[in-house]
Amino acid sequence: MSGEKPNDLPDEAALAGMSRDELVKLGTNLDGVELVHYEERWPVKGTRAERRAERTVALWFAIAALSGLAFLAAFLFWPWKYQAPNTPDHFVYSLYTPVIGFTLGLSILALGVGALLYTKKFIPEELAVQQRHDGGSSEVDKATVVAELADAGNRSGIARRSLIKRTAGLGAGVFGLGVLAVPLGALVKNPWSDSETKNSLWHTGWKSENGEKVYLRRSTGRMHDVALVRPEDLDAGGFETVFPFRESERGNEEALVAAMKRADTPVMLIRLRPGQQVTKRAGQEDFNYGDLYAYSKICTHLGCPTSLYEQQTGLLLCPCHQSQFDVFHYGKPRFGPATRALPQLPITVDEDGYLIARGDFIEAVGPAFWERKS
Ligand code: FES
Repeated sequence: MSGEKPNDLPDEAALAGMSRDELVKLGTNLDGVELVHYEERWPVKGTRAERRAERTVALWFAIAALSGLAFLAAFLFWPWKYQAPNTPDHFVYSLYTPVIGFTLGLSILALGVGALLYTKKFIPEELAVQQRHDGGSSEVDKATVVAELADAGNRSGIARRSLIKRTAGLGAGVFGLGVLAVPLGALVKNPWSDSETKNSLWHTGWKSENGEKVYLRRSTGRMHDVALVRPEDLDAGGFETVFPFRESERGNEEALVAAMKRADTPVMLIRLRPGQQVTKRAGQEDFNYGDLYAYSKICTHLGCPTSLYEQQTGLLLCPCHQSQFDVFHYGKPRFGPATRALPQLPITVDEDGYLIARGDFIEAVGPAFWERKS
């Protein structure tokens, strides 16, 4: 009720002296509410039916707690790393998303069902008719509404239903933990603890370790093949995707497959046509080898592969949201949502005539993240 203030309203002292029942009654009257029907669900306490209803509500809260725990365990410990189809671990890996989705969903659902059942089975049954008013609530309205809510809670017997209280607390608590685990999950393992090896966020599979050469390896369609690249393998205007290879990985099928599956390793090797002019980025003037240029294939917008190269315009196109990168201008974006140039891989040729990386990328590849400076 608001706006209008009837003359027979109790003052503050009278309000403070009123019992909760009186406040409930006053509240309904002031709001123009007529209680057509108002009845406790369990007028006779402690019946078998009441205990059964209590156990049903508690069961749903317990399900919420158990599924919340299962979600936490799956989120933290389920093997989530990519496993290719037809490998022994693929089936378990493929269940990761369904399992965390199902357990979190069940936890939310069970909490909701528990709360609904509690309202249905224990909050007093009432049928009321109320006139509608505009504007904010008066102090009297606020005090009486609080009294009404407290009264409904009290009449539902929540104070003596410790089973429901405990399971509801447990369910909501575990669910809350699960919700917190998602944003905090990335902090469980400190992503910055390793900033030197090729597995750190700041480096890619192109980083040389212990001085070992990193060759450019073409994809033949078979993950275990090792096909190195020479400058003469690419025609003018041609391009292909290459991956890193080290001699120490030869014969090591796991390492050969891993090098091709890493998200940060694919590189577009491009051979410009004779006479095509290039503006180089300051500090990267010697990153190319003659007319061969190597750019990260990972789009700096959202990480799709920039797979299309138009040799006449020198534009690399990302098919996801149509970003275009200009190979004649150090891979800087010309069109679309990407805002950063594609990182360029410094390359050269070794004494046997094979293309090798002169070092890792000098900036992080792929989309932006908050510590990235370029
Ligand atoms: S991921 Fe390339 S444009 Fe969006």
